[in-house]
Amino acid sequence: MTKDNNTAKDRAANALWGGRFDGAPSSIMEAINASIGVDKRMAAQDLAGSTAHAAMLAAQGIISKDDEAAIQRGLKEIGKEIRDDRFTFSTALEDIHMNIEARLAELIGEAAGRLHTARSRNDQVATDLRLWLRDALGDIDALIISFQKTLLGLAEAEAETIMPGFTHLQSAQPVSFGHHMLAYVEMMGRDRGRFADARKRLNENPLGAAALAGTAYPIDRYMTAKALGFDAPMANSLDAVSSRDFALEFLGAASICAVHLSRLAEELVIWTSAGFAFVSLSDQFSTGSSIMPQKRNPDAAELVRAKSGRIVGDLNTLLMVMKGLPLAYSKDMQEDKEPVFDAYDALCLSLSAMTGMMADLGINRDALAAAAGVAYSTATDLADWLVREADVPFREAHHITGQIVKLAEGKGLTLSELSLADMQAVSPKLDETVFSVLTPAASAASRISYGGTAPDNVKTQVKLWKEKLS
Ligand code: ARG
Repeated sequence: MTKDNNTAKDRAANALWGGRFDGAPSSIMEAINASIGVDKRMAAQDLAGSTAHAAMLAAQGIISKDDEAAIQRGLKEIGKEIRDDRFTFSTALEDIHMNIEARLAELIGEAAGRLHTARSRNDQVATDLRLWLRDALGDIDALIISFQKTLLGLAEAEAETIMPGFTHLQSAQPVSFGHHMLAYVEMMGRDRGRFADARKRLNENPLGAAALAGTAYPIDRYMTAKALGFDAPMANSLDAVSSRDFALEFLGAASICAVHLSRLAEELVIWTSAGFAFVSLSDQFSTGSSIMPQKRNPDAAELVRAKSGRIVGDLNTLLMVMKGLPLAYSKDMQEDKEPVFDAYDALCLSLSAMTGMMADLGINRDALAAAAGVAYSTATDLADWLVREADVPFREAHHITGQIVKLAEGKGLTLSELSLADMQAVSPKLDETVFSVLTPAASAASRISYGGTAPDNVKTQVKLWKEKLS
């Protein structure tokens, strides 16, 4: 919680709403009511909203030009104080809106009291959070792009690197390491799309909805919308102050993105373990053990995996806060910011950590190639050879291949180590050309269907993505 810097004056009776009160709130009331510890992160947005509102009030003749000038001067000064860390945040003043307005009164006197004309904290806070989130979405987009570029670099360098592809975490068919990286590039591309979509819908202006019903003053909501970079004013004042679906959409998109990251994080945990040894993390992104000197732990990957749980928790928090709330504003909604900020922080850190880990990932090509060849991973290729070269129906080819796998297993050999005679004992239709499809590299290279894992496909996709991201 923010340090309580309340002055006697702040406490006496809230100067901003205390007209009908004789006494000050209990310290418990104050503690549960205050949000300044969280919402001070929106100071810049709150100042921007007030700047636009004051300019509009003056343009509409609702306040005088002189008062506007004083307000603008005061807001600028407050902005400087906050940036220089000279601003004293007070819990008694509850939230960022009242902290700034109270300071404005100290700086410019009576004119400060005119700023809140035709506005309420209800439309003010909705405006601030939309502005904050709009900036946050820009940060996230940039982080995802740099993550995608890192994955593309790996995909390009490792297009020809063959690894086992898995289903059920059992070796299934050989794939290109680059192809595996590109799978995440695609996921991140859709994540960017979801954030961009959320941004489009959130970019409408609640300011001027006032407490809930609009206002009798001749305000110009198009003017403030334009000044704040919104596409339009929100059309319904009740909706404007009481909707938080824009924040839920952000948290939904963040949850999906975090879940995507958690899957690659989990793969890093598996791939760096001694049983796999597919890849290694650099010193920069590994940690040691305080007791076992040999250990190199993938803590960052594990924490990315865990942070996805935290981000999904943030989504659930806000969904539950909003569930069943009658229109319009309820104080419950003050609890919207903490999950939004928390998810943003966790997601930015997760994206940065994943980018860092992948940027200098060590690739153990030998281990990948060896693992790609075990567990009869080219059995499907053998069946496909029978279909293609000997016109055997796929179901029958599947059965023949199963018998050959059983034979190899009994002899402790891989498929390509079996003799042609052994194979022909199962099916005389096989000839020596079958060996050309039994290596993992040949298997991967043959998968040239659109979207398939052939290294040539991977190189084409890398090129397309590079153009898309340049
Ligand atoms: N701090 C409040 C919030 O974040 C601002 C709005 C308060 N409105 C009110 N009617 N008390 O939601």
